Amino acid sequence: MSEYVIDDRQMPRFRVHRKTMIDPEIFAKERSEIFDHSWLYVGHETELKKPNDFKTRSVGGRPLIFTRDAKGQIQVWLNSCPHRGATICREPAGNARFLTCFYHGWSFSTAGKTVSIPGDDGYGPDFERPSLVAPARIDSYRGFVFVSFDPDIVDLRTYLGGAAEYLDLVCDQSAEGMQVLDGTHEYSVRANWKLLVENSYDAYHAVTTHQRYFEMVVAARGGFDASGLMDSRGIDLGNGHSVAAGGASTASLFGRPLSAEGQAERDQRFEKFRAELGDAWVDRMANARNLVIFPNLVVIDLVMGVLIRKIDPIAPDYMEVTSWELAPPEEGDELRKQRLDNFLTFWGPGGLATPDDVEALESCQRSFAGVKELPWSDISRGMHKPIPFSSDELQMRAWWRRWNELMTGEKQPEEIHEPLNETYAGRRKTPAVTEA
Ligand code: FES
Ligand code: FE
Repeated sequence: MSEYVIDDRQMPRFRVHRKTMIDPEIFAKERSEIFDHSWLYVGHETELKKPNDFKTRSVGGRPLIFTRDAKGQIQVWLNSCPHRGATICREPAGNARFLTCFYHGWSFSTAGKTVSIPGDDGYGPDFERPSLVAPARIDSYRGFVFVSFDPDIVDLRTYLGGAAEYLDLVCDQSAEGMQVLDGTHEYSVRANWKLLVENSYDAYHAVTTHQRYFEMVVAARGGFDASGLMDSRGIDLGNGHSVAAGGASTASLFGRPLSAEGQAERDQRFEKFRAELGDAWVDRMANARNLVIFPNLVVIDLVMGVLIRKIDPIAPDYMEVTSWELAPPEEGDELRKQRLDNFLTFWGPGGLATPDDVEALESCQRSFAGVKELPWSDISRGMHKPIPFSSDELQMRAWWRRWNELMTGEKQPEEIHEPLNETYAGRRKTPAVTEA
């Protein structure tokens, strides 16, 4: 599992046993102890624009139908026919008043009611038509819809803890509400899902793994100022959530430079927010952030765009990944063009970043399977520092502490670092969280 140890020189160390990445029993236990007892991201409300729109999703090992019913209410149903189990919706997306199971033709409304059963005179007069079954809990925070298969889990807002504030920093970037754009990336990686969790907020790997990308950024910017790395922090947000949060110079360090026209529009948009939201909040909004909401939702907000990434564990050495781009609907054509270009050519499966990361993760996985002589990975970086940077590994340790607690029941010692000194005034009013 993961271990907090004091080494021979009295230095704290944190390490993770590599069997957590390959062992089928641990994988099965993750399903029952973590995925059956967490809030899991399904999708964003804006993906379902019209009544009866639906998307199919795989969440926590279950096939789901994510839909907006005829009255406009968001619904989530298990995509398993209550008759004899066939998959009801077999398309990735669509719009349908009735969801009809192809096996015997039972059909259901998007609100979950059984509307027709072919030859229902074959059942007795007292036959109770079964409805579609929903996960135990459904809830949303600022358009992000989550489910939990644990009826007794804490409410979503409590679960999100300090992570909610970092979602606010993303969602406040539009007065109209941020929207998911059409089009997704879907790809698979022959590696354990936790390796991509770690990678998603690992600023340490960026300059070496993505050397080509940085050569391009340096050429475009006419230089490279690594001091931006000192302007960022790894922050434990509680409940296993954490963030690599950058300062202004980090955003410009990692982000691809916008065109002059795009930059001017972006500056103008953020200037407009100042009167409403205040300088402190808008300064933070303009920064970069790589957020992981435990266990498997990633939100990466760099200057060029906002990526939502859902990591789906399929086998100990295989994961599927889906990602979406989140955007302010009111942005102009130039910014939208650059955002979409970045989503495709940076984050896409064949983009500048993703193949590098896939290669790194798959090479780790191959070595975990073959090299028994090295049982532990070390993620101690920055443990001894008063202020860990995002290029340290605090954010991963926060995730692993929660993982370890859920998997073993043991709490590992917390780390003490200097407190944050950030002001939170002026943010857009957070809408009330309502449970469906
Ligand atoms: Fe769906 Fe029979 S299994 S109608
Ligand atoms: Fe990377």
